[in-house]
Amino acid sequence: MTNAYDIAYARSLKDPEGFWAEAAKDLHWYKTWDKVLDDSRKPFYRWFTGGVVNTCYNAVDRHVEQGRGEQAAIIYDSPVTGTTRTISYAQLQDDVARFAGALAARGVAKGDRVIVYMPMVPEAAIAMLACARLGAVHSVVFGGFAANELATRINDAEPKVIVSASCGIETAKVIPYKPLLDHAIELATHKPAACIVLQREQAVAALIPGRDFDWMQAVAAAAPHDCVPVAATDPLYILYTSGTTGQPKGVVRDNGGHMVALKWTMKAVYNVEPGEVYWAASDVGWVVGHSYIVYAPLLNGNTTIFYEGKPVGTPDAGAFWRVISQHKVSTLFTAPTAFRAIKREDPNAELLKKYDLSAFRALFLAGERSDPETINWAQTNLKVPVIDHWWQTETGWSIAANCMGLHAFPVKPGSPTKAAPGWGLEVLDESHQPCEAGKVGSLVVRLPLPPGTFYTLWNAEQRFVDSYLSEFPGCYKTADAGYIDEDGYVYVMSRTDDIINVAGHRLSTGAMEEVLASHPDVAECAVIGVADQLKGQLPLGFVCLKAGVTKPHDQVIKEVVALVRERIGPVAAFKTCTVVKRLPKTRSGKILRGTMQKIADCQDYKMPATIDDPGILDEIQESLVDVGYAKPRNE
Ligand code: COA
Ligand code: AMP
Repeated sequence: MTNAYDIAYARSLKDPEGFWAEAAKDLHWYKTWDKVLDDSRKPFYRWFTGGVVNTCYNAVDRHVEQGRGEQAAIIYDSPVTGTTRTISYAQLQDDVARFAGALAARGVAKGDRVIVYMPMVPEAAIAMLACARLGAVHSVVFGGFAANELATRINDAEPKVIVSASCGIETAKVIPYKPLLDHAIELATHKPAACIVLQREQAVAALIPGRDFDWMQAVAAAAPHDCVPVAATDPLYILYTSGTTGQPKGVVRDNGGHMVALKWTMKAVYNVEPGEVYWAASDVGWVVGHSYIVYAPLLNGNTTIFYEGKPVGTPDAGAFWRVISQHKVSTLFTAPTAFRAIKREDPNAELLKKYDLSAFRALFLAGERSDPETINWAQTNLKVPVIDHWWQTETGWSIAANCMGLHAFPVKPGSPTKAAPGWGLEVLDESHQPCEAGKVGSLVVRLPLPPGTFYTLWNAEQRFVDSYLSEFPGCYKTADAGYIDEDGYVYVMSRTDDIINVAGHRLSTGAMEEVLASHPDVAECAVIGVADQLKGQLPLGFVCLKAGVTKPHDQVIKEVVALVRERIGPVAAFKTCTVVKRLPKTRSGKILRGTMQKIADCQDYKMPATIDDPGILDEIQESLVDVGYAKPRNE
């Protein structure tokens, strides 16, 4: 049977230029493109070459000019500070233009980079949009990363200016950001010319004269700056994400293709009309925050919610229902872990009864696999469709989704439904042949990727090719394994690399291993992701000590745990580590992380044929039992 999804999907692959040119008409172009899809430099495909645009104009000014000036653009809801603030599109235009003026006054111009290191306050969006207004390239760094991670990003992006805040607030804890910022700049070899700091009353920061500027004062002294036309192919932002080493990958997004694709998804995927209230409960530091707290809802003329709080504890497990009800949210997007947290505290959803959720239409989940139990709990209690969709920092929007604005397919729990229009998704086996329906293989996408996806890695074009395009020629490797069933439903099972997913946050076990290995007492180490009821996965470390180390094991563990927190940040949630005599390896010396993970999660495993000494697995099992994982050996 043919439906709007089938028609859109077929056309998007057969006639991608026609498909996306039509979507592009919804936006403002100073000059339309010469070519919709430029494939003159394969495998580097570019969208809308020759086009001239401004993303900020399309996300803000256009709406004011078209009569949405009085509509709320952003509702800032912050239970941690007891504040709610509404910013209309007209006010947002003024705020962004003035902040763009403040950046320009510090020398920021088209092509310059600006790092944004901020908590969930609307000024983060204002800073991002101000960069877009100037044609500058923003790079938002998540607040839960440590100074060292920020320094790595400063060195790679070489920002002219860093925009930050004096502190973030995590439930009841005030986290001063300024010392982290100062330390990061100290560690970095690149030094920004200036920092603009939003002072928050919970922890006012000391500013360094000549380098640091107070946000309010900088804005008060600035002249509003107009939108600067940029090439559709110019970079809009860099977003660093975990790679397999400690050096993060700088995913780069363009202006033209990005705005076209994201605007299109608001109707096609989320079924949201301009004017409605849309809420992505995430953080601007993640891709979900970039795409669905800031850009897509604003490009579509929606009201977006900036929520500075948690699903639980601010103040209780009814927080999400309170926000939905108070602001008449039509659609919520969050990570399954948030719902697991709510379910754990309020299993019978008693708090839901206090709120009127009549405006609420759908819940979208992504960031990690949605377990059927969580989907069923949400659906039973909320009585709205619960839609799993699958995407990555690299892709910027969903590879697979139940496209609610095209055709609502029946939900199969555990599946993000079908490949979204634009995505030539396939499952390939080890010899790169298509797998039959139901057989697990590597999930890959035939090039070109649709607009809105990344087109390179910042300063690392060869790494872009090597990491994503080389293994399966002509395809993008998602590094996820899964299968497609006989009805075309996609199932995403696991990563094929050492990335783990902790509370919807993407982390590299390789990066954690680099930190453990740097400890002077550690000879060898491994980090694996173990199953966790709340966060999906948690990292767990194994260290072998150097000969002659006499320090108590507890002390070494305390030190390596502190080291990961100091180097990567609290977001790594690295709290469990165990000292072992040896690590299980293949005869060629490869650590058997997969087998260790299966033992930890009490799953059956096959004794690897290439293991050099099977007895080590018993020792590993005993150590895991000691830290609360695996089954005791006699069970
Ligand atoms: N700034 C500073 N520190 C931060 C931070 C930030 N922006 N975000 C998190 N942290 C810290 C936390 O305070 C915590 O520190 P702790 O070890 O001192 O307790 C640590 O990083 C781990 O944070 P988190 O993984 O978020 O755990 P949590 O126990 O605080 O909360 C959840 C767990 C499930 C409630 C929370 O992760 C959540 O709401 N996640 C779902 C939504 C989401 O953001 N998904 C992301 C992609 S869609
Ligand atoms: P990130 O880049 O942080 O968005 O993380 C992307 C990774 O999260 C993907 O490669 C998947 O491994 C996982 N992921 C995201 N969404 C889903 C989903 N809906 N189902 C299964 N895994 C998902």
